[in-house]
Amino acid sequence: MLVLEAVSYRYAGAERPAIRQVSLTLDKGEVLGVVGPSEAGKTTLCLVASGLAPRAIRGAMDGRVLLDGADTTALPMHEMAARAGICFQHPQTQLSGICGTVFEEIAFGPMNLGLQRDDVVVRTWDALDVLGITALAERDPMQLSGGQMQLVAIGGLLALRPAHLILDEPTAQLDPGGTRLVGECLARLAAGGASILITEQKTDLLERICGRVVVLEKGGIVAAGPTDEVLAAAGLAAMGVAAPSRVRVRRALAGAGFGDGAIMDALH
Ligand SMILES: Nc1ncnc2c1ncn2[C@@H]1O[C@H](COP(=O)(O)OP(=O)(O)OP(=O)(O)O)[C@@H](O)[C@H]1O
Ligand SMILES: [Mg+2]
Repeated sequence: MLVLEAVSYRYAGAERPAIRQVSLTLDKGEVLGVVGPSEAGKTTLCLVASGLAPRAIRGAMDGRVLLDGADTTALPMHEMAARAGICFQHPQTQLSGICGTVFEEIAFGPMNLGLQRDDVVVRTWDALDVLGITALAERDPMQLSGGQMQLVAIGGLLALRPAHLILDEPTAQLDPGGTRLVGECLARLAAGGASILITEQKTDLLERICGRVVVLEKGGIVAAGPTDEVLAAAGLAAMGVAAPSRVRVRRALAGAGFGDGAIMDALH
């Protein structure tokens, strides 16, 4: 379980906190979506939830982040990395830059955890397999498309087998096929017991995989609840968050004078 208790975070030198009094609970096997306008604090929330801030990113944190009951500020870095994995929007920033092949790149994290060689090999093939990228195993990670690189970055994360996954707009560079693949993979991981925090602009993806969604605005949570309800809320569009296509189609049909019965027929 990942718990944030009234967490505020102010970057070093910043006038205001980037997130304020954020409290949330993420259960085992749960996928929690985070939406909000630009600069709402989504990335900051991910950095704090993963323990990277303030550990590696200078700033001041108030409140507590608990990973399975343990306060993250007290956990050694290697234990944090084994328990909570984070994936960013830009895959270039998370590939090691020193591995000649995709296989080595994905094996890099578990190797650094000091795992047995056989275990590392199994985990690496599993990660390649679950993402459907075994064909890329021998390729140079730096010569892949943005989408392929992101899948490799996610693969590196999966190979660590963390109980908690934190993903900051992981499909930003992926086409619809790649986005679907990542969505299916995350749903499978959650079904296996992982808890997943994901920020996304693609609300269609969130609708498919999240049980709950929270809305961040100006650093604070302004709405939270079941995915369908939160993503259908009227105020989201004004924040620049597009409703899922199902909701938009429904609205368009209702606007064209179709009743609820006709809408349900059209949607199913
Ligand atoms: N390293 C930093 N130092 C100081 N301020 C920062 C830093 N990183 C982000 N901020 C500020 O913190 C606030 C929240 O930024 P954050 O990146 O968390 O927002 P976001 O919701 O992820 O935005 P986007 O949708 O554009 O990715 C912004 O006002 C931003 O300018
Ligand atoms: Mg961001």
